[in-house]
Amino acid sequence: MRIAIGADHAGFGLKEQVKRLLVDLGHDVEDVGTDSDQSVDYPDFAREVGERVARGAADRGVLVCGTGIGMAMAANKIAGVRAAPVTDMETARLSRAHNDANVLALGARTTDTGRALDLVRTFLATPFDGGRHQRRLDKIADSEHRA
Ligand code: RB5
Repeated sequence: MRIAIGADHAGFGLKEQVKRLLVDLGHDVEDVGTDSDQSVDYPDFAREVGERVARGAADRGVLVCGTGIGMAMAANKIAGVRAAPVTDMETARLSRAHNDANVLALGARTTDTGRALDLVRTFLATPFDGGRHQRRLDKIADSEHRA
């Protein structure tokens, strides 16, 4: 898969670990930054990753900040992005199976590295169930067009 990744200063370290995992798994990774632990603003990186996913330049995105919450909020402002802030294995799986999430938002301050890498593996390996869930996603997309 083509996977765009990004982080703010709080997520920089974990983003580097995620990048290594994705490369080891054979994915085509585009890292939009940040490149250090110097303070930056997470919406800038959420936009870079979200836009790549929305326009089809990336199949999936992974964003990392302190909690994953700000990244998910920012990325979900972009039409076509379905970003899920995830901290446990069950929501990693369901974010894909039921919500067809295309961006995973991780919290470097709330999730230890081993767990975070497991969340990434599950997020990438779980297919969308479709069916009734697609009807609900269509309604989310319809809300975007009304905004
Ligand atoms: C940065 O200190 C922190 O607020 C940010 O990484 C993120 O957790 C926001 O949701």
